[in-house]
Amino acid sequence: MTHQVRAVVARGKGAPVSLETIVVPDPGPGEALVKVEACGVCHTDLHYREGGINDDFPFLLGHEAAGVVESVGEGVTDVAPGDFVILNWRAVCGNCRACRRGRPQYCFNTHNAKQKMTLLDGTELSPALGIGAFAEKTLVAAGQCTKVDRAASAAAAGLLGCGVMAGIGAAINTGNVGRGDSVAVIGCGGVGDAAIAGARLAGAARIIAVDIDDRKLEKARSLGATHTVNSKESDAVEAIRELTGGFGADVVIEAVGRPETYKQAFYGRDLAGTVVLVGVPTPEMKLELPLLDVFGRGGSLKSSWYGDCLPSRDFPMLIDLYLQGRLDLDAFVTETIALEDVEKAFERMHGGDVLRSVVVF
Ligand code: APR
Ligand code: ZN
Ligand code: ZN
Repeated sequence: MTHQVRAVVARGKGAPVSLETIVVPDPGPGEALVKVEACGVCHTDLHYREGGINDDFPFLLGHEAAGVVESVGEGVTDVAPGDFVILNWRAVCGNCRACRRGRPQYCFNTHNAKQKMTLLDGTELSPALGIGAFAEKTLVAAGQCTKVDRAASAAAAGLLGCGVMAGIGAAINTGNVGRGDSVAVIGCGGVGDAAIAGARLAGAARIIAVDIDDRKLEKARSLGATHTVNSKESDAVEAIRELTGGFGADVVIEAVGRPETYKQAFYGRDLAGTVVLVGVPTPEMKLELPLLDVFGRGGSLKSSWYGDCLPSRDFPMLIDLYLQGRLDLDAFVTETIALEDVEKAFERMHGGDVLRSVVVF
């Protein structure tokens, strides 16, 4: 059997997205069909639409989603129909060299549904990040579904599926922020703000938010920043040092993805401190640093892919903390919109006043 549902499709490079009817197959072995309840609009969706990721048009966009499992295919035991799940793009294989060494958060062989969703004329769709959740129903690998407490709001929970998890994980997993640490976060969009929330959860004593937009800094403060720096008005490195006894922060998280902000992170960090790059650079960007400083300052320079998260470990835990009032995921939902408003949400993304627009079905 197949299902015909409404979905947001990007048909060609740079063209506005369109609302289409797509065909979703019933789940085969190892797959799950999910009735999507909410899906956030992420920059990566826009990058797909602009042809910035690859040329496999048409794309079925959307990937920060939560919903309810409608049916599962043969052999699926981890989730069952009726489960409330967050979709993830790290369904671990259990067999690659990372998984075999007990480091599934680095799995090098993650998987997606094998069957294809299509347009009505049979054209195969490429789901964004192997998910494709700007659709009333989507087909994923069962391992992409992580069961969490049904009491959570779908709009807030879905955001853990990508950007918010990337930020929180950059702080608590990659940066290993601990009680009493000083942390600076450069770039306070959805990802940076999530890093701030993560640093607060981990017990950071001082959290310095750096951005070039005062509105972002205000929001960062509400999520846990203890100090803010507008790096258009003052030098980011000097300001971070001033706020940390002249030394720099224990952990600096770069959530912009540019060489100049990476350098600020590099020099805004204390000796033997940690830099975490979670912002995603573009292919032409180059970084130049005195190698002697890389050596002499010690510590570690890390990158954080998807917050080094393990969905089965991190999603239920973070949802529990959210339900206890210790992690304000609702603060990341700026507005809820309808499926037909995704294109408008892309336009608003550059305005600076939206952390996440979330499609609610
Ligand atoms: N210095 C400091 N902050 C900056 C600078 C700069 N030079 N340039 C931009 N910013 C700020 C913006 O003002 C904004 O608040 O960085 C923030 C970026 O936020 P968003 O555009 O909302 O992006 P976000 O979703 O948070 O993602 C940030 O992480 O996952 C990656 O691909 C993503 O590279 C992107 C980054
Ligand atoms: Zn693996
Ligand atoms: Zn995303």
